[in-house]
Amino acid sequence: MNRILRGLITITILGCNSHCHENHGMAYGFDTIEPSPNLTWTPCFDDFTCSRLEVPLDYSNRSLGTTSIAFIKLAGKNATIESPSIVIIPGGPGGSGVDLILENWFLAAQAFGDQYNIVSFDPRGVNNSGPNLDCFSGDTEARSAFLRLYSTGATNVSSTSLEEQYYSSSIYGEWCNDAVENESPHGYFVTTPASARDLLTFTEAEAELAGRPPSDAKLWSYGISYGTVVGATFASMFPDRVGRMILDGVLDAEHYYNNDWRDNVNQMDEAMGEFSTLCHSAGPGKCSFWGPTPANITAIMDALILQLQNHPVPISGVQSQELPALVTYSDLKALFLQTRYNPPALFPVMADILHKLEQGDASPLVGSFDGLNSISDARLAIMCADSYRNNKLTSIEAFQSFVEDTSSESKYIGDIWPIFQANLLCRSFRPHLPDSMMVQEPINGHGNKSSSFPIMFASNTIDPVSPLKSARAMSSRFAGSVLLLQEAVGVSRH
Ligand SMILES: *[C@@H]1O[C@H](CO)[C@@H](O)[C@H](O)[C@H]1NC(C)=O
Ligand SMILES: *[C@@H]1O[C@H](CO)[C@@H](O)[C@H](O)[C@H]1NC(C)=O
Ligand SMILES: *[C@@H]1O[C@H](CO)[C@@H](O)[C@H](O)[C@H]1NC(C)=O
Ligand SMILES: *[C@@H]1O[C@H](CO)[C@@H](O)[C@H](O)[C@H]1NC(C)=O
Ligand SMILES: *[C@@H]1O[C@H](CO)[C@@H](O)[C@H](O)[C@H]1NC(C)=O
Ligand SMILES: *[C@@H]1O[C@H](CO)[C@@H](O)[C@H](O)[C@H]1NC(C)=O
Repeated sequence: MNRILRGLITITILGCNSHCHENHGMAYGFDTIEPSPNLTWTPCFDDFTCSRLEVPLDYSNRSLGTTSIAFIKLAGKNATIESPSIVIIPGGPGGSGVDLILENWFLAAQAFGDQYNIVSFDPRGVNNSGPNLDCFSGDTEARSAFLRLYSTGATNVSSTSLEEQYYSSSIYGEWCNDAVENESPHGYFVTTPASARDLLTFTEAEAELAGRPPSDAKLWSYGISYGTVVGATFASMFPDRVGRMILDGVLDAEHYYNNDWRDNVNQMDEAMGEFSTLCHSAGPGKCSFWGPTPANITAIMDALILQLQNHPVPISGVQSQELPALVTYSDLKALFLQTRYNPPALFPVMADILHKLEQGDASPLVGSFDGLNSISDARLAIMCADSYRNNKLTSIEAFQSFVEDTSSESKYIGDIWPIFQANLLCRSFRPHLPDSMMVQEPINGHGNKSSSFPIMFASNTIDPVSPLKSARAMSSRFAGSVLLLQEAVGVSRH
């Protein structure tokens, strides 16, 4: 097991474990909280309050009924009734804002200050918010059988892998469509425009609770990665309801709604170049993968990639008493892919692993590709429902050209990104959704009407997940917005 890496990148789950008890009305989950159309905050997870806000499944047809959205709030130590709540919009799609706050509240409180309340939420379809969808209806065997067929490694790892991945990808959507048809009729009612509308419902409910008129309540928000798509969608739909909005680690919303994820690898090789530079300047004592020049470090890294491609390394398990394993090219690519989510913390880990590999010890990479799995039903339901009407990734030629583009953009992750991002899986999704659930016009297509407060976009100069060019593109679409650049390599929390 590649424990160091797992430990660093795995999101710790604060769930219902040993201290899962009811304590003076203190909730440690959302099941015990009654959904309500008004915000009713219940003490939860010791230091927070939680609420399940009831919202219409379809805002344009309320006879379809409601679902509920899980919100969590950390009251500012020095907040008053007037203090705005800053809503943190999580990444993903499929990311849980509740988990994000439970794990990172101290960072958020530090960043924003004690005079603000900090709020986050599980967007529609995610974790504690409805509507739920389990594409394999609890059939874990079917789910793993599908994964074995589809998730076979880097796209071009064998002469038939691209075709195998393309054709097996249709299976997933077929199971999801079937689950929607037979048990979760509103499983696809989880689109981003609907989530953006839910944020307005929240903003109005909060104003109502504070005795302010809901009709001109404004959203204060901080969106991260995919959360920037939610934020930009909100600002586009409700320009005069923007209180404050920071969008950090920006995705190009236009590309997102077209299921076009090719730009995302755009700055990866630059980030890897930065790794070589940093490792070199740290010195041989500090960076275990040190080399006499940055170019030399890069060259050795490239040689290791080639070497693994031609000579996967068997790990017999005889001495370690672990299961036999084969460390492959895809496992090394998976390491690069994981590292890019948190370069400052993970560069040293990567250096150690590469150093061991150079010395012939591949064991830290065992299971690296298998551990990468990012296929979650909520993530795919949101992503595929959002792009359904504009999805062009529906033929093997389109898939080939996608892989060619990403591969030419990044030699480190270009050929593993497609299987990881899994946007190919959208090709057999058949959500039949009303117009009101779908994005209606280009993001910020409202006649260039400025938002009621200018949006601040923020990006690192080298962002290997949500590249700077997306931040520039998005900022150019919002009149009056600004772009804040931080000279750094890395990404906001995805
Ligand atoms: C929600 O709040 C409104 C206005 O304060 C009130 O009229 C209504 O009864 C409340 N609804 C529920 C279900 O508590
Ligand atoms: C609203 O939903 C109901 C229940 O599914 C359906 O019968 C009706 O046709 C819908 N109305 C509109 C305007 O789409
Ligand atoms: C709390 O707010 C009050 C009033 O705005 C201010 O005077 C005080 O300095 C704040 N205290 C802290 C610890 O921020
Ligand atoms: C959120 O969802 C993830 C993935 O489905 C799961 O592992 C985690 O336990 C969930 N967290 C909560 C608080 O429910
Ligand atoms: C896959 O590799 C083959 C042989 O190396 C090459 O001809 C082909 O263009 C590659 N395809 C893609 C999509 O990268
Ligand atoms: C919005 O602004 C862009 C660029 O400034 C311009 O090309 C476009 O015509 C404008 N659209 C409308 C509807 O005003």
